[in-house]
Amino acid sequence: MTQRRPDTGRTTIPAAGTAADRSTQPAGNGTAHGKVILLGEHAVVYGAPALALPIPELGCRARVVRQARSEPEAVSYRFLQTPAGIPSGPFPSPATSPQETAPEGIHDLIRAVLREAFGGGAPGVDVTLESGVPPARGLGSSAACARALTHALAGFAGLRLSADEVFRYVQVSENAAHGRASGIDALATGSRRPVLLDRGRATTPPVGADGWVVVADSGSGASTKDAVTMLSDGFAQAAGSRERFLERSATLTREGLRHLERGDLAALGGVFTACHELLAGLGLTTARTDALARAALEAGALGAKMSGGGLGGCVIALTATGQAAGAVAALLLREQGALCWVTPLTRGEGHDGI
Ligand code: PMV
Repeated sequence: MTQRRPDTGRTTIPAAGTAADRSTQPAGNGTAHGKVILLGEHAVVYGAPALALPIPELGCRARVVRQARSEPEAVSYRFLQTPAGIPSGPFPSPATSPQETAPEGIHDLIRAVLREAFGGGAPGVDVTLESGVPPARGLGSSAACARALTHALAGFAGLRLSADEVFRYVQVSENAAHGRASGIDALATGSRRPVLLDRGRATTPPVGADGWVVVADSGSGASTKDAVTMLSDGFAQAAGSRERFLERSATLTREGLRHLERGDLAALGGVFTACHELLAGLGLTTARTDALARAALEAGALGAKMSGGGLGGCVIALTATGQAAGAVAALLLREQGALCWVTPLTRGEGHDGI
């Protein structure tokens, strides 16, 4: 059974019973995963191309239930950061988890979806988010949480959202978290394939060979918003610096995409390392991320770079085999004490859209 709300014209599918019988509304659940940026971070904020790789091994889940007794439109929010991985097992009960204030962007997102579904009369909801995506590491934790929550809210409200609508809701939260979000995190945290974002258009680029990406956590991070602001302030003070950065970044990303398509991982690795140097020149790396990138190269990686917003966060290293990836990860753990994840880069066709 479907119905149309007169104010939005949106088709809604009541999740249980009828739309009028919200007392039978079941929980809404949603999931999403982390990501790393392979090429083009920061430049993508200004429309230059960037490439991201989903990390399905790091997950986030959300649950939305109607509050037992509440004021209309009341929102109670709980956030649990779990060890890196995919949260599993029974969902923590709202009754036993401490309540906190939702970050501004998450609060705006909740309001926006519930208003779309219920107009002014949204019921009070209990929102629980559980994330195994380490925060402030350039791994897309804020976007993964926002995406999982969007799906959970839509499920709760009986809203069937298109991919574009989900993207727009995630961006409500991401724009608050990043200051000015390119949208690449919002896309990659819901994709199973690498995502290329180029002048606002998202596609899946062709990948000509199987490879491996080692993700090494530097152990500290900064807010993406601070990094984006630092860069734009710097650009404002040096005429032509922004244009030079964007041109160089776009050239490297396009070069990297050609190597990726041909399956030339050694050449792609060289582009990774050149990207690291470009971003280091802007002050986005730290002594620790520089050291991790160097150590990965010494351990036999084909290339290594910081990934995401920077000022800490993660370094990624490319290898052609799982065995080489394991050796790089083992050395980074042993000699640098860095927690690592290894994720595959899988050969596949390119296609339009995500
Ligand atoms: O969330 P992070 O740290 O991976 O940063 C996303 C990448 C940026 O290009 C720095 C920002 C953006 O919105 O694209």
